[in-house]
Amino acid sequence: MKTMKWMVGLLVLVGILALSIHSFATHGDRPATNKAIVLAAFGTTVPEAQKALDHIDSLAKQAFPQVEIRWAYTSKIVRNKLAKQGKVIDSPETALSRLMDEGYTHVAVLPLHTIPGAEFHELYHNVRLFGQMAGGFQQVAVALPLLSSHQDMVQVAKAMLHHVPAQRTADEAVVLMGHGSEHHPSDAIYPAMNQVFQEMDPNVFVGTVEGYPAIDDLLPKLRAREVKKVYLMPLMAVAGDHARNDMAGPDADSWKSILEKNGYTCESILQGTGEYPRVVQVWLDHLHTAYTQLQ
Ligand code: CO
Repeated sequence: MKTMKWMVGLLVLVGILALSIHSFATHGDRPATNKAIVLAAFGTTVPEAQKALDHIDSLAKQAFPQVEIRWAYTSKIVRNKLAKQGKVIDSPETALSRLMDEGYTHVAVLPLHTIPGAEFHELYHNVRLFGQMAGGFQQVAVALPLLSSHQDMVQVAKAMLHHVPAQRTADEAVVLMGHGSEHHPSDAIYPAMNQVFQEMDPNVFVGTVEGYPAIDDLLPKLRAREVKKVYLMPLMAVAGDHARNDMAGPDADSWKSILEKNGYTCESILQGTGEYPRVVQVWLDHLHTAYTQLQ
């Protein structure tokens, strides 16, 4: 009886030893990895627009439940304005520095921009530099922004059409407001996106605030379609300043005012693309592609 107890004790001890040797061995084979994700948006100072980013946050956390997820805003103006209200949001560079100091080894960054324009390229450039620092990250990966291939455009167009209010009839138009850029070649994605919509529904158009096509370029096309009513929707992650003022605002130069002056009835939908799960899925697919590059 006594020997039995003694033998059981010995077996347990051997077992513990075997387990600890095993874990030493696995640690020796591979250095520890510690992965994180940074969601980088332009940012917004409009409190009601924040819900688009909150929605993206919750879907990203569902998709990557075990991974540390941090936020960063690329716009300094937005960050400074929020900081004055006591809401401190990191720049992508600060967010990456923190993760580096905290010992994270691998980081995937998701740009919540719509096109690979100037802001995306700045972000891409700086994130890549973080990947080159001595004693820093082992690997960084930058995901593509929303509209980065024809397949993305088709998927996003289908998702947007799905969210057009149900009461809209086929003879009514939908005009989407993209940001656009006067200075960046990626501005060409907006006329490409317009074409994708046109092939799905000839009464759906894409215009931009700062690029091509502008609202004035769309007016003759709307006239040719003989529509009477126009639904206005932002083609931006959040329904922020541009959506609320340049698209739907009361000023004479807003799209709503210009269209009404031209005889159209307007209805504005103040929802960013970040509020539509199917659009967010395209961003998260891009993040997944970047994240799986980390090893
Ligand atoms: Co702008």
